[in-house]
Amino acid sequence: MKERLKALAQAAKTELLAARAPEAVEALRVKYLGKKGELSAVLGGMGKLAPDERRALGETANAVKVQLEGLLAEAVGRVEELKLEAELKGPKLDVTLPGRGRRPGRRHPVAQTLEDIVAVFARLGFSVEAGPEIELDWYNFEALNVPADHPARDMQDTFYVEGGTLHAGFSRQPVVLRTHTSPVQIRTMLKQKPPVRAVMPGRVYRKDSDQTHTPMFHQVEGLLVDTKVSLAELKGTLDAFAKAFFGAKVKTRARPSFFPFTEPSAEVDVSCVFCAGQGCRVCKQTGWLEVLGSGMVHPNVFRHAGYDPSQVTGFAFGMGVERLAMLRYGIDDLRTMFENDYRFVAQF
Ligand code: DAH
Repeated sequence: MKERLKALAQAAKTELLAARAPEAVEALRVKYLGKKGELSAVLGGMGKLAPDERRALGETANAVKVQLEGLLAEAVGRVEELKLEAELKGPKLDVTLPGRGRRPGRRHPVAQTLEDIVAVFARLGFSVEAGPEIELDWYNFEALNVPADHPARDMQDTFYVEGGTLHAGFSRQPVVLRTHTSPVQIRTMLKQKPPVRAVMPGRVYRKDSDQTHTPMFHQVEGLLVDTKVSLAELKGTLDAFAKAFFGAKVKTRARPSFFPFTEPSAEVDVSCVFCAGQGCRVCKQTGWLEVLGSGMVHPNVFRHAGYDPSQVTGFAFGMGVERLAMLRYGIDDLRTMFENDYRFVAQF
């Protein structure tokens, strides 16, 4: 066995000295010193020897192992150097070549717009609230005074989550992807006493897809509840918002409208930001652009949220972030917002 060990050491030495590449050295390490290598194979047979024979052989084996490890380390150093030399002799590295610049990322126009809207309301004293995008039917519709047969609930518009869910206090509840941020009004009122002064930004979902509609878009909801809140305050707040967002020169007007969760309801227009109200293609010659829906909170909404409509009044509003971004930046195709093309994003 001693002979075998010596032969092994000799063979390993010869091969290691001849190795020229890191891969070859590694292969030899595995071959001789690896778990299933030749040294292990010899040592595996040691169990059958008498104790003193085993001790003597063990010493030799250890010496061989140390020797092989030394040779291996040497070989590693040598092939590394060979490799470096080869590189130095090879084609020259042109250190004068200009580097390839890394483009910094950009805030997406939708993100910028959303932050700007929230910032304007923050200055007006509004806090920020959030709610889930996967929502119970009750919060998205029922509590907002949208009756079961209302067209807004149509399967055409709403994404339903298969199966619904069982939820405390309800029989089987349909589960939807929220179709607007208005359910966050209910959640906010349920968790705090009046007064409330909050905006609620987030993603909403509708089964819509064409040049002006995408299945997912963003809204910012607003809610102000206190004693004796008036329609005049609603108009004043939204006018202040429009001037802060679009510029001090814009005018606003409120048109009567209908939403189940507000009474009275109003749609708010701003004077066209493209033609300063003169009439152009974008405003279809009217001089006005519709930017949001709003109204005085319906008593039924207060009741569902646990507020007493004889004690409080309030206003609410909701606006589409993509629409405001398009108006602000003059973008004419909504779909460009969702293509993630850097050349598009870099323009804003
Ligand atoms: N939820 C409405 C929508 O998605 C927008 C809206 C209108 C929100 C009037 C309101 C409101 O809070 O008062 O079209």
